[in-house]
Amino acid sequence: MTFPDRFSDLPEYAFPRLRTLLAQSVPGGEVIDMTIGEPRHAMPDFVGEVLSENTAGFAKYPPNEGTPELRQAISGWIGRRYGVDVDPDREVMVLNGTREGLFNAAIALSPERKAGKRPAVLVPNPFYQVYAVAALTAGAEPVFVPASRETGFLPDYAALPTDLLDRVTIAYICSPSNPQGAVADRAYWEQLLDLADRHDFRIFADECYSEIYRTAPPPGAMQVARAQGADPERVVVFHSLSKRSNLPGLRSGFVAGGPACLARIKQLRAYAGAPLPLPLQRVAERVWSDEAHVAASLSLYQQKYRLADEMMSGVPGYSGPEGGFFLWLPVENGEAAAKRAYEQAGVRVLPGAYFGRDVNGTNPGEGFIRVAMVAGMDELQRGLQALRDCLYEQ
Ligand SMILES: Cc1ncc(COP(=O)(O)O)c(C=O)c1O
Repeated sequence: MTFPDRFSDLPEYAFPRLRTLLAQSVPGGEVIDMTIGEPRHAMPDFVGEVLSENTAGFAKYPPNEGTPELRQAISGWIGRRYGVDVDPDREVMVLNGTREGLFNAAIALSPERKAGKRPAVLVPNPFYQVYAVAALTAGAEPVFVPASRETGFLPDYAALPTDLLDRVTIAYICSPSNPQGAVADRAYWEQLLDLADRHDFRIFADECYSEIYRTAPPPGAMQVARAQGADPERVVVFHSLSKRSNLPGLRSGFVAGGPACLARIKQLRAYAGAPLPLPLQRVAERVWSDEAHVAASLSLYQQKYRLADEMMSGVPGYSGPEGGFFLWLPVENGEAAAKRAYEQAGVRVLPGAYFGRDVNGTNPGEGFIRVAMVAGMDELQRGLQALRDCLYEQ
């Protein structure tokens, strides 16, 4: 019995790795979990009602591409949020959460060869782990590009050698980013679009934290591409209700991009996709059309940024996130810090290295811990205080 080689070097996922790291440890206080990026603000209050009105839909196979009404609601949201006109029939497809979309779109769109060679897929390092697995599945080489303090916590893809860039089929970019909390501004997107044009690759923009930001709403990749008059096939964007609307269990997101890219993604998903159940599509339709709950949740996150800035102000090298809900805190060694936080204070956080890969002996996540600011204000305050006391004031 044999197994594929291409996944054999994958590290254990972050959560089981943390369990192993802390297996022998005893918590030094009430356990406060700041590991998982699972939003805990209120979901929209109409979810139950819409679901119960639509339960008959469980008796049907759901439309693979999303109902016309849901695609229309999504295209309406894109129009309001980014001022961009998107054809709901040809440029939008509903996803069962963005994670599967980020994976399946790479299989649908990364060619077998580029410039006569094995293709490369660019991945920021550290990163949301599905990007690397998607690249490997598509037969491409994942190339991990540091997204560290020196590069403004976003990858500097333009600094890569030309012969590598010529092999690139897809560049993943996450803005606001997990885990660093960095936001790509217009200039960043413009340069990346130019680079993609010169080397003929696609940009996969993971924008699932787009509605959680410190001051101004982050610009979207599609918005900048349209303003620049870029080829509409250059950019594929991924959005989710998990973070925007505190509905990670709804498994609802979408992919949008040029009609040719979308046709390929739809074709693959017609064979192998897992469409979102019809009643959940009805819920998603309502959720994309409502902004009141998003504004309420954003204002809570903005309070959390202020609290984190206050609590961490004296920490050398601290910079609060520009977007998303993770703190990316500098420490000497992430694993040692995570162990100490648990053993001395009962606080569970993830070592930054678990989101990164070693390249030439360096893992850009090693000197960080990732702290999810998803709990209520009181618990968050207790967690941050404990982290400050045990990691920075001894
Ligand atoms: C950067 C990033 N992309 C995508 C996802 C997946 O989100 P979804 O729940 O839509 O699958 C997550 C979830 O944690 C994430 O952090």
